[in-house]
Amino acid sequence: MINVTYSGNVQDILTDDKKETLKSIHEGLYAKNGEGNDFLGWLDWPSGLSEPFLNDIKQTADEIRSKSDVLIVIGIGGSYLGAKAVIEALQPYFEKNPNFEVLFAGHQVSGAYLKQLMAYVEDKEVALNVISKSGTTTEPALAFRFLQQYMEDRYGKEADSRIYVTTDAEKGALRTLAEEKGYKRFVVPDDVGGRYSVFTAVGLLPIAAAGFDVEQLIQGAKDAENELSSFDLDQNPAIRYGAIRHQLFEQGYTNEVLATFEPKLNFVQEWWKQLFGESEGKDQTGIFPISVVYTTDLHSLGQYIQDGKRNLFESFIVVDEAEEDLEVFEKENNADQLNYLAGLSLHEFNLTAYKGVSEAHLSGGVPQIGVHVKKVDEYHLGYLLYFYMLSCAYSAYLLGINPFNQPGVEDYKTAIFKLLKKPGY
Ligand code: PA5
Repeated sequence: MINVTYSGNVQDILTDDKKETLKSIHEGLYAKNGEGNDFLGWLDWPSGLSEPFLNDIKQTADEIRSKSDVLIVIGIGGSYLGAKAVIEALQPYFEKNPNFEVLFAGHQVSGAYLKQLMAYVEDKEVALNVISKSGTTTEPALAFRFLQQYMEDRYGKEADSRIYVTTDAEKGALRTLAEEKGYKRFVVPDDVGGRYSVFTAVGLLPIAAAGFDVEQLIQGAKDAENELSSFDLDQNPAIRYGAIRHQLFEQGYTNEVLATFEPKLNFVQEWWKQLFGESEGKDQTGIFPISVVYTTDLHSLGQYIQDGKRNLFESFIVVDEAEEDLEVFEKENNADQLNYLAGLSLHEFNLTAYKGVSEAHLSGGVPQIGVHVKKVDEYHLGYLLYFYMLSCAYSAYLLGINPFNQPGVEDYKTAIFKLLKKPGY
């Protein structure tokens, strides 16, 4: 379903030593006895999903859509990026969703954003889905403080049936609040970390509310779970991608540029940056993830990628089939001198541009990886996101890193809390 290509020779990477290391990573993953094994719930989550759970998600999404025009999703990091990535990839560019909108809050701290959001939804019926695994993260908690008040002022007691909470089963301030108010709750499983949670209620409820087919999304993830679980180094693209990027890192290519010609995948790139950056960037090591959308960025960062410091490799998400297309037509006077393109579709243009850019960057000393996916729909997105999560686990373990914690993000929080004189800091 996914094909990984590489400008070098994969067989050179897969030395006997590397194969042995990969084998032991594979065994540790599937026996669930490696480092961070208490956060491996995502590995077999798609196949373990129960029908009643999926029905609950779909019914709740229908309920939200039937009584509201807008769902505001409050969350940050892994509690926001998965849903945002899938929704952005699937919704049209314009007239995003004429009958129902999913908007996001709590992923930054901007008074202007929140004020304008509340003004924007004033003449619309609103529901809230507040998502926080810990139930204590400051940015979403702050946004929820304002939006909960807004809902109570506007709807009175009815607000309680318009607020949906996704959090830990037992712990956290949000859990307590939800219990007190009787909000409908969904659980973030203990053994699934934020950036691996897109197939739990964290991602599924907003995606279903946006009107997309969560069953197809899960089917894609399920097929990926099944097909990528074998230890076949020639066939398994998840292991290949993890092994190639690690090899490049060892050769001094410490930055990975994730490129795409599909602007709609922009938030898949953001999700990918969080997944790999937060999973691997520890102990003064890890590949730094960067993203570009082409051809837009060929006219900005393209210069650096072609000619700048040689510590980059590039990986492309290449989409084989376009959802919609246009064909260049012949013009009588050929004033723009584009008749030579007549008959070519814009998607074909992009596929050719991919080949050209890839060749040019390779000749400039930037190794090239291609991650080829058939199309952008629910099924293939489910497959792609699962593929990246699994690759990330291999890649981080190759570095000797536990992919599932994020000790570094506590330091900035402590510094802010001290300045704000939070009790206990
Ligand atoms: O991947 C992660 O674990 C983080 O990015 C979290 O998702 C993020 O910090 C938000 O945490 P929480 O869901 O507890 O509010």
